[in-house]
Amino acid sequence: MADDGKTGGWWHQVRRAVHRILCWAVNERPAPARAAAHNGGRHSMLSDTPAAQDPANISELDAIPAHPTPESTLAPAQRFAAAIGARSQRARVIAAFNAAQPVDDRYELLGRMTELNRLVDGVVERRQHAVVFGARGSGKTSLARIFGDLADEAECVALYHAATGDTGFADLLRPYLPFLQAEARPAGRAALAALGERDFTARDFASAAAPGLTRRIFLIVDEFDRIENRQTKAQMASLLKLLSDTRAPLQFLLVGIAADVDELLEAHPSLRRHMVAVPIRPVGPRAVEAVIDEGARRSGITFPAEARMLIGAAAAGSPYHVRLFCQAAGLAAVEAGTSTVDVGAVRAGLASSFEEWASVNAAAAALLERLCRLPELRERLRALACDAAAHQTVAADRVPQALAPALLFNDSGTAVFADSLAPQFLLARLQLAATEPALAVAAAE
Ligand SMILES: Nc1ncnc2c1ncn2[C@@H]1O[C@H](COP(=O)(O)OP(=O)(O)OP(=O)(O)O)[C@@H](O)[C@H]1O
Ligand SMILES: [Mg+2]
Repeated sequence: MADDGKTGGWWHQVRRAVHRILCWAVNERPAPARAAAHNGGRHSMLSDTPAAQDPANISELDAIPAHPTPESTLAPAQRFAAAIGARSQRARVIAAFNAAQPVDDRYELLGRMTELNRLVDGVVERRQHAVVFGARGSGKTSLARIFGDLADEAECVALYHAATGDTGFADLLRPYLPFLQAEARPAGRAALAALGERDFTARDFASAAAPGLTRRIFLIVDEFDRIENRQTKAQMASLLKLLSDTRAPLQFLLVGIAADVDELLEAHPSLRRHMVAVPIRPVGPRAVEAVIDEGARRSGITFPAEARMLIGAAAAGSPYHVRLFCQAAGLAAVEAGTSTVDVGAVRAGLASSFEEWASVNAAAAALLERLCRLPELRERLRALACDAAAHQTVAADRVPQALAPALLFNDSGTAVFADSLAPQFLLARLQLAATEPALAVAAAE
């Protein structure tokens, strides 16, 4: 028995290790051990607010020197070395408000308990497929990754892959095949291996994968909106239906930018009862506060109430913009030789964030900048931007003619910003314009 126990423990560890490599291995895998350490690994303690601070959890990032020095005087090589070592104040601010990567620690996924519960309820309990949709930067990938993390802990398998462009059905699913083979019984392995060699249909995939799998598998297809090929979408819809009808232990989470679920699945009425739709809307004010609190704690930068109010107003519930604006404002404070973000640092942060966005979306940025200089338009622009940030779509007749080139209009009388990140940058630019009255009058004339 003792031997059996040892062998079982060793085997379990090997299985866990292989499993961890497989999970997320199609792209990139987060480190669940760190997340689990926050609450002793108990899922039931998931919360919308970060874990209470435990001195044992305070990392190198939290050890902030009392008097930060401005770093702009350092040579690029010194800044490079300091940033790589995560020792500089700049590096701490950048890491603490990381706006470039999805959340990979469940305790940093703030304000998304409802959405996570909806996924668990629909996908895990009711065995539906899921479609997770929302604006760019709203936190879709973060939610999907944390769901995968939970699946991993529950001894299921979550495989993540992002569609790299408009692709055919077989090419979309081929990256999952080696990982599915590893989870299949011997007979199933051969059938799955055979698919790797040829083109295949939804029916081929379902009959090879469904019967042979040993445990529940969730296939996450991120950037699903990039697929325009109607044939691929039709095959995906057939596959989801086949997997549901055969009660296969294989479920899909389709993740993409969309204002509503029809956009993503293009109306397959018979699929609806097999799907749970999880819209990713803006987070509430408490979650915005929590994102700022968490970043402030990690960076050692203080965000007084006025700074939070200004950043919150411009971000309009988008976690990406909260992090981006806080990061830029925090860096502006560091440049000024202080660890407190005052109104000047917020403005400098909003301005540099807008410039950064302008560098990748020059035409839209130039248009917004010009329109923000017209005082008579500002209130209309602000209301429109708030609406677009909240719902993505706006009534077409509310769009000022001059702003039309930045939006896409459809037949149903609604419009969306061509770049769904734009509304928050418009709000940021409007805040800046409000403090430039002389310039605004000059521009209006
Ligand atoms: N719930 C959240 N709490 C804190 N930060 C978040 C949350 N959701 C997203 N973020 C942050 O916002 C940024 C964007 O998140 P993410 O990449 O998940 O969005 P997305 O909707 O997948 O974006 P895209 O449409 O570009 O793929 C990341 O920096 C992420 O860390
Ligand atoms: Mg994403």
